[in-house]
Amino acid sequence: MDTLDSLKTELLAAVEGAADMAGLEDVRVSALGKKGRITALMGDMRTLSPEERRERGQQLNALKDAVADAIEGRRAVLKRAELSARLAAERIDVTLPARPETEGRVHPISQTVDEIVAIFAEMGFTVAEGPDIETDFHNFTALNMPEEHPARQMHDTFYLPPGPEGGNPRVLRTHTSPVQIRTMLSQKPPIRIISPGRTYRSDYDQTHTPMFHQVEALVIGEDIHMGHLKGCLLEFVRAFFQVDDLPVRFRPSFFPFTEPSAEIDIGCSRKGGELKIGNFGDWLEIGGSGMVHPKVLENCGIDPARYQGFAFGMGIERMAMLKYGIPDLRTFFEADLRWLKHYGFVPLDQPNVAQGLTR
Ligand code: PHE
Repeated sequence: MDTLDSLKTELLAAVEGAADMAGLEDVRVSALGKKGRITALMGDMRTLSPEERRERGQQLNALKDAVADAIEGRRAVLKRAELSARLAAERIDVTLPARPETEGRVHPISQTVDEIVAIFAEMGFTVAEGPDIETDFHNFTALNMPEEHPARQMHDTFYLPPGPEGGNPRVLRTHTSPVQIRTMLSQKPPIRIISPGRTYRSDYDQTHTPMFHQVEALVIGEDIHMGHLKGCLLEFVRAFFQVDDLPVRFRPSFFPFTEPSAEIDIGCSRKGGELKIGNFGDWLEIGGSGMVHPKVLENCGIDPARYQGFAFGMGIERMAMLKYGIPDLRTFFEADLRWLKHYGFVPLDQPNVAQGLTR
């Protein structure tokens, strides 16, 4: 008995004294391993009488369990200590400022998209996307521009061969409006999305590039009217240009996919040849809008007797030029590092409405 007790005391002390996992494993092997001390004592029982063996067996099993339990307990303690040490060693101070040698800049288009997304996200919109290579159906037909419709000609479309399924030639999307169609075909109302992205038209001069960017907005619900469109636009342009009393004006217009349709103007001044955004009595066009045409809703399987909605589209380059005083559209795509250093934005300084969109 005495020897088992002292062995127990000795082994438990060794377990507690193990400084790391490897040390603990050594203790385990020396006690419970194939050639371990407890294992050896168990082997010795062969020479005992059956009664002695029973008693001795119980004692040894109790000892074995006590040591095994102690090892498990110690293992948990060492594991926790190991994790804490690792966490402490791998700690990174994310509050440190960005490395001053960082030279990269965020392109004004990306910055402007981030700002627009931040504003509409606060109004409960989500971002939807569609492909740059579109079907004739999504870009035109479903938007109430059947084949031979004269409005198709206004778009200076880039045509591509038909897709694997045949049919009409595919197109580089001429506007972001096909994302309206994709969204309405895949989601049930109520719908509230914006869709920023690339668009293409075969046109190149001081105010046109063959690739440019638009942002589309689409809201569909049971009682949506033009007042919602106006309110949404007011909220957006005031947040974007950071002008609290910036006015918005509608001018009657025509788009095949909206009825009624309206051009969107915001207030500005052109005094002294300098363009300023604000409530100054003059007007500047920033995009097109309207109530989604009942035929477009029908083309997407939405009942126009129950649902209405509004949509608008804007040019992102134009918004960026107006906000950041960038005079020439073509410079956006020249990849001139000096231009990017001047007009670009510091990365990690993500726009958000609460902290200010541009710092
Ligand atoms: N897609 C139109 C364009 O590119 C803009 C627009 C979008 C008009 C949505 C009305 C509604 O000119």
